[in-house]
Amino acid sequence: MPSSIHFFFFFLPLLITLLHLSSSITHATVAQQRKVYIVYMGDVSPTRSHISALDQHHDLLLSAIQDESMARSAKLYSYTRSFNGFAARLLPEEAHRIRGREGVVSVFESQKNQLHTTRSWNFLKMPQDVRRKATVESNIIVGLLDTGIYPDAPSFNASGFGPPPAKWKGKCDSGANFTGCNNKVIGARFYNLDQMDPNIDVETPADLDGHGSHTSSTVAGVPVGGASLYGIARGTARGGVPSARIAMYKVCWSSGCDDVNLMAGFDDAIADGVDLISVSIGGSPKPFHVDPIAIGAFHAMKKGILVSCSAGNIGPALGTVQNVAPWILTVAASNLDRQFKTAVKLRNGVKSAGISINTFSPKRAMYPLTSGIQAAINVSGYGNASACDYGTLDEKKVKGKLVFCRGSANQDYSINEMKGAGVIMTAAQMSDIAALTIIPGTVLTVADGDKIDRYINTTKYPRAVIQKTRTVHVSAPAIASFSSRGPQFISPSILKPDVAAPGLSILAGYSTLATLTGTKDDPRRYPFNIISGTSMACPHVTATAAYVKSFHPDWSPAMIKSAIMTTATPIKIPAEGEGLATGSGQINPTRALHPGLVYDMALTDYISYLCKEGYNDSDISLLYHSRKNLSCADIKPAKGSDGLNYPSMHYQLNASITTFSVEFHRSVKHVGFGHSVYKAKVTSPKGISIEVFPEKLVFNRKHQKQSFKVCVSGELKNGTYIATGSLVWDDTKHVVLSPIVVYKPQVWSG
Ligand SMILES: *[C@@H]1O[C@H](CO)[C@@H](O)[C@H](O)[C@H]1NC(C)=O
Ligand SMILES: *[C@@H]1O[C@H](CO)[C@@H](O)[C@H](O)[C@H]1NC(C)=O
Ligand SMILES: *[C@@H]1O[C@H](CO)[C@@H](O)[C@H](O)[C@H]1NC(C)=O
Ligand SMILES: *[C@@H]1O[C@H](CO)[C@@H](O)[C@H](O)[C@H]1NC(C)=O
Ligand SMILES: *[C@@H]1O[C@H](CO)[C@@H](O)[C@H](O)[C@H]1NC(C)=O
Ligand SMILES: *[C@@H]1O[C@H](CO)[C@@H](O)[C@H](O)[C@H]1NC(C)=O
Ligand SMILES: *[C@@H]1O[C@H](CO)[C@@H](O)[C@H](O)[C@H]1NC(C)=O
Ligand SMILES: *[C@@H]1O[C@H](CO)[C@@H](O)[C@H](O)[C@H]1NC(C)=O
Ligand SMILES: *[C@@H]1O[C@H](CO)[C@@H](O)[C@H](O)[C@H]1NC(C)=O
Repeated sequence: MPSSIHFFFFFLPLLITLLHLSSSITHATVAQQRKVYIVYMGDVSPTRSHISALDQHHDLLLSAIQDESMARSAKLYSYTRSFNGFAARLLPEEAHRIRGREGVVSVFESQKNQLHTTRSWNFLKMPQDVRRKATVESNIIVGLLDTGIYPDAPSFNASGFGPPPAKWKGKCDSGANFTGCNNKVIGARFYNLDQMDPNIDVETPADLDGHGSHTSSTVAGVPVGGASLYGIARGTARGGVPSARIAMYKVCWSSGCDDVNLMAGFDDAIADGVDLISVSIGGSPKPFHVDPIAIGAFHAMKKGILVSCSAGNIGPALGTVQNVAPWILTVAASNLDRQFKTAVKLRNGVKSAGISINTFSPKRAMYPLTSGIQAAINVSGYGNASACDYGTLDEKKVKGKLVFCRGSANQDYSINEMKGAGVIMTAAQMSDIAALTIIPGTVLTVADGDKIDRYINTTKYPRAVIQKTRTVHVSAPAIASFSSRGPQFISPSILKPDVAAPGLSILAGYSTLATLTGTKDDPRRYPFNIISGTSMACPHVTATAAYVKSFHPDWSPAMIKSAIMTTATPIKIPAEGEGLATGSGQINPTRALHPGLVYDMALTDYISYLCKEGYNDSDISLLYHSRKNLSCADIKPAKGSDGLNYPSMHYQLNASITTFSVEFHRSVKHVGFGHSVYKAKVTSPKGISIEVFPEKLVFNRKHQKQSFKVCVSGELKNGTYIATGSLVWDDTKHVVLSPIVVYKPQVWSG
């Protein structure tokens, strides 16, 4: 687990959750073990008014609770704008009673989700002067579900922006430390439906964390010249669509992002008139009808809004990807062609370079140096002094010194508390993540660490200095180690993540309401920060989608998604899990404007997919109200192994089976000009045959559709768990690429 992300977005919230739970035990007893549940009731009914929806919610609660006033006080919120449902505090048996009722798709307990924590646009070959449709772009509104926003950051300077687009129906909440919206940040709301921590959280749309300002400025921040983190990564910081508007829906608090808040954020964002939604948040994968992000994104898709989500930060292990619904654009994280190196120089002249982000320039030429063992209170006592475990070191021996600590467990925080001058850590496996240290610090290889340890052991007055971080060039794109990977078992026939985008050490705008490391001990507040995560990758893709939409305002969410996927560049640097890590590859925003062909999917295609996946008529009719309620029988049955016109192709074998033969049915829409002839080019992995029928597609007019079939067969021998091939449709001007990934779980014997 990469340390910076681990600390900011997982460890810290978890810790706070635990404190929070222990302090609210008495409260829970009073509330009779009621828990927050979401009752999801599908589409808003075109024939039912807001008031009658509220009555419907109350009637359901009353029938389960049987007491008028308790039913009223149990309800927390009604979702009525973009979909139908409500949140309430219920006992498990009450939730169970509602579950069977007519009109109810699902009843599930609200859970906590976690955040998936400028030069990046140049790296993606989208320079600042790229061709744009600035006027159209300025009518695009990007909604983000996140930690709030800090509109005063230079990235959100509204100078030169006109009033919000006429279609905008959103609001701007007020609250502490919030100066209000402007013509750049046109909306900012907060949702606090479950208990927040009164000691930490304040009811405000202001970003007290920094995450939401970072993701928002990556999507749509205005160019800010000379941006850097204390001189590191200097350049122009800017969003992918700098003319677009931002609408923030704050759903995350210090303990995480509750399902009830996520549902409320989606309910409003969709109805407010946003064009795209970006969600850098995730939880463990769940069936779609009990997953608030899948539900929200489904209703967004119905309104023509594409939702992009981060894939999660729990790689490189396989089977870790989150946000896998086929109507979501799921984003993996890749690196940029730079790495942050922080050198240590010993007085004897030996120098080694580690990985970290150290914003501090040394004030002295050399500092006294010690090690955890030498500064220990009692080496044979409790704890691991060589790792500088908390409580093992003697403050007197640490104060003013650099301390060598084995392992990299954020020892910079405890050495800082003991007034040490800096920390040198080691890692058995060097991470690609550069963690921002709270005092001068770096992470070396174990071999380099041993040299320092030996120097300390053999020198009377050891001295060293930790230099400020500098940037070095590395190969790219490569998938970041933490980026979550497939396979997944919620929609096993869909390849997830879909695409990759930069998410490693990204410089973007930040909130000066938060300190750089998020802890009180850190005096640094700065309008930019460098952070890593699929959280940072997702807004790059949201911006790319907004850019494509500015040229093709009439394209469906699936067309935009297809354009981004089929024009992505396959990632050549090997990644654990191959296609299960990279999806279609690294996004290429300017190529995505001209995909040639697109794989479109309409609502009915997703419905027939859901029918194939086992959702029954009563569920389906609730998901989509129309004059005639849809049922699976009314819809063309899904064909082929995956049952969806998806821009990538994926098949999971049974663990016990090695040979297979599957078909994928696809149709593509011509979005180029005039007469075009596309030929199929196939790359087959060893032992696998890929055949395409027909091998040639002829188009005579724009938006003409052609269908084809891909047959994939062969054998995945024991020991091989993945085979990656591809299909390309090529008309000599466009390359329309689909990865074909076959996965077979490993069988472990003995
Ligand atoms: C916003 O940008 C304008 C024009 O570039 C500049 O004059 C102004 O000082 C900026 N405001 C802030 C708060 O940075
Ligand atoms: C050091 O720790 C060991 C083991 O806990 C204990 O037996 C010993 O007395 C301690 N020595 C001192 C000087 O505190
Ligand atoms: C102390 O921590 C270091 C670094 O994590 C580790 O290599 C070492 O084995 C640990 N020692 C003990 C006694 O646990
Ligand atoms: C330095 O000394 C400590 C304590 O005597 C010992 O544990 C460690 O292995 C030594 N380091 C090296 C690299 O020899
Ligand atoms: C936030 O506002 C409160 C009072 O409204 C103020 O005391 C506090 O210093 C502000 N926080 C920051 C980081 O500006
Ligand atoms: C449809 O499936 C749901 C569970 O997803 C179940 O509760 C319901 O009874 C089913 N309805 C029918 C008509 O089979
Ligand atoms: C559609 O289904 C809903 C929920 O089952 C029901 O309330 C409504 O009357 C149905 N509408 C039609 C036209 O059948
Ligand atoms: C895969 O194996 C499971 C049992 O492990 C079985 O239920 C299922 O039918 C098999 N699927 C195929 C396609 O053979
Ligand atoms: C592969 O593994 C499966 C499951 O353990 C086993 O049944 C099969 O005989 C193996 N095949 C070969 C060629 O080793």
